Amino acid sequence: MRNETIAIHAGYEPEATTHAVAVPIYQTAAYAFDSADHGAALFNLEAEGFRYSRIANPTSAVLEKRIAQLEGGVGALAVATGQAALHFAFVNVADHGGNIVSVPQLYGTTHTLLSHILPRQGITGRFAESDGPDAVAKLIDENTRAVFAETIGNPAGNVCDIEALAKVAHAHGVPLIVDNTVATPILLKPFDYGADIAVHSLTKFLGGHGTTLGGAIVDSGNFPWAKYAERFPAYNKPDASYHGLVYAERFGRTAYIERARSVYQRTMGSVLSPFNAFLLLQGIETVALRMERHVENARKVAEFLRGDSRVAWVNYTGFADSPYYPLVQKYLDGNASSLFTFGIKGGMEAGKTFYDALKLITRLVNIGDAKSLACHPASTTHRQMSAEQQRVAGVLPETIRLSIGIEHISDIIEDIDQALDKACGSARLEAAE
Ligand SMILES: Cc1ncc(COP(=O)(O)O)c(C=O)c1O
Repeated sequence: MRNETIAIHAGYEPEATTHAVAVPIYQTAAYAFDSADHGAALFNLEAEGFRYSRIANPTSAVLEKRIAQLEGGVGALAVATGQAALHFAFVNVADHGGNIVSVPQLYGTTHTLLSHILPRQGITGRFAESDGPDAVAKLIDENTRAVFAETIGNPAGNVCDIEALAKVAHAHGVPLIVDNTVATPILLKPFDYGADIAVHSLTKFLGGHGTTLGGAIVDSGNFPWAKYAERFPAYNKPDASYHGLVYAERFGRTAYIERARSVYQRTMGSVLSPFNAFLLLQGIETVALRMERHVENARKVAEFLRGDSRVAWVNYTGFADSPYYPLVQKYLDGNASSLFTFGIKGGMEAGKTFYDALKLITRLVNIGDAKSLACHPASTTHRQMSAEQQRVAGVLPETIRLSIGIEHISDIIEDIDQALDKACGSARLEAAE
C-alpha cells in the first residue's frame, strides 16, 4: 500500500463485535483474563493480548501499527510526547557510561536532554562540529551506543545525509537513531537509507492540528543486536527485571521495540491516552494531502520573500543555492520543508515589529500545525542567550522561523506583506527611493 492508503487504513479492520468503522476509543485501564493461566501467558509474553493500558492499549495499538507501516518498520511504541519517545529511544540503547554521538542541529529540548539530563544518569551526549559524516565519525568510541540526527533539523532546516550517517554508525557497530518529526514518513523514509530507529513527535505534522501531544518510536528491525553482544548486553544477557528474558533471542527483529515497551513503558509510564491516540489517528488520515500543501505553500512564501526588497535573507533548502539543495533532491524528492527561517532588514527591532504585526500567522513556538506559525527566537526561545551564543545557535536578531500551514496561499502572503509594511515600510515605496 502507498502512503495515502496506509494513513487511512493500516492497523484496523472494523472490529468483530460492533463492526465500528472508526477506530474505537478503548478507554480502559485493564483487561479481563479468561483464567489464571491466560493471565500468566499474557504476563510471560507468550499469548497475544492486553493486560493493562500502561503497557499496551487497543486504540494506541492501531496508531502504532499505522506509524510502523508508514515508516516501513517492524513495530512501534506510542508514548505521551515526542520528548518521552526520545528519552526511551536513548536509554533503550545506552546505560551508565555509554554515549550518544549527535549532529549539532537539534530541537532545543532534545539538545538539553543529551547535554544536561542524560549525563545525570551517566549517559553522555557528544555533539559533532557539523552534520557531516566525518565530523560524527570522529566522536565515536568503544562506549558509543548510537548515532543520532534529526532528518530535517528544527529550526536549522538542515537535511542530514542519512545514508552516509548510517554507514558511519554501522561501521562502528552502532545503530543510527533519527528524529523524523519534521520530514514525516510522507517526505522521507529513513529506513530506506539505513537508519535503524525513527522517533517522532506526533504533536507536529503527523497529528497536524496542534491539538494533541504524542510521540512514537519505530523499529526498522534491521539492527543486529546479537552480533554486537558485547556492546549491547541488555539485549543479549538474561534480564533480571523480566524473569531472565533475553530480548535478542526471544524477539529477534522486534527486540528493540519490545524492550522499549517491556522495560521503559512498563516501569516509567509516559503513556499516550487512548483518546489522544484516536485524535492523532484522525490527523494522520490526511497527512499525505497536508504535506503536499505545506510544501507547495512554503515554496511560494519563500519565493515571495526572496523577491522582496525588505527581506535581507531567506534560509530555504528548496533554493538551488542552498548547501542542502542536493540532499533535498536525494532524500525529499525536491520537496523542501515548510519549516524555514528568514531575516528582514532592520535587525532586532524590525524583526519584533514584523512579528507583532502578524494577524493570520500565529505567534507561538510550535511547528507542523495546519495553521501557519511564526516564532521570533531572539525575543522568545533564545532570549536568555548572549548575542554570541545566539549566533552559534544559528539565531540572528532578525531571524523569524516560519512553519507554513495549509491556508490559502494568498492569505498567507498578504499577512506577511502587511507585517513587512509595518516593520520596514512598503516594498514599492522603498524600491522607488
Ligand atoms: C524535531 C522535534 N522533535 C521532538 C520534539 C518534542 O516533541 P513533543 O513536544 O511532542 O514532546 C519537537 C518539539 O518541538 C521537535 O520539534
